[in-house]
Amino acid sequence: MAGRAVAREPKEIVARGYDAIALRYAEWAGQIDSPVMDWVRDLDRRLEDGSDVLELGCGRGVPATRELARRHRVTGVDISAVQIELARHHVPEASFVHGDAMELEVAPASFDAVVALFMSGHVPADEQPGLIARIALWLRDGGLFLGMFNSGETGEDVDDDWLGAPMFFASLGADAYGPLLRESGLDLLRDEVIAQNEPGHGDVSFRWVLARADA
Ligand SMILES: C[S@@+](CC[C@H](N)C(=O)[O-])C[C@H]1O[C@@H](n2cnc3c(N)ncnc32)[C@H](O)[C@@H]1O
Repeated sequence: MAGRAVAREPKEIVARGYDAIALRYAEWAGQIDSPVMDWVRDLDRRLEDGSDVLELGCGRGVPATRELARRHRVTGVDISAVQIELARHHVPEASFVHGDAMELEVAPASFDAVVALFMSGHVPADEQPGLIARIALWLRDGGLFLGMFNSGETGEDVDDDWLGAPMFFASLGADAYGPLLRESGLDLLRDEVIAQNEPGHGDVSFRWVLARADA
């Protein structure tokens, strides 16, 4: 990501992009051997029954929302109307909100866990520290954050044809996220850079973290 100027509003690119490619993304993501369920089950095991879980960028609700909604009260948020419609269909027992995670109004200490998977890399670079700070604020003492961050080059870019639609990406670089999490009061329990092989894109690395809010 060379930091090429982003002409259109990034959030609009992301929302329209996922509206257009939601089904293609689902098919494509289904082919990837991703560690997602290992991390989601790890989070699930650490939560008590009936925990309040907020999932940012929940997408179509599969697989993470569906898995967590078996035992917990899950609220999913997504900026794409089509993704939210699919999620309501796949996980009728969860609650969903259509909107930008950065615009959400959430009272402090409302959730036992916040989850953001394959989502933060679509948030503009200058908003990412604020996103982490908000997540920390929304967690109850001892609450858990499961997330992952793009660990590629620092900067912002628009891929004009990502699975058939323009898509916006941003990264602060893999090393930036540990300090930001700690400064926000999130202590790392697990922290791993993991590569996954993506059809058409090759090996792509993400920094996965499971963190606990300071009690
Ligand atoms: C790569 S998909 C991942 C979906 C799901 N978490 C999964 O793992 O399959 C990223 C999702 O994040 C959503 N998203 C991106 N930026 C967002 C924002 N600022 N607020 C809410 N949702 C957002 C997109 O619409 C998309 O559905």
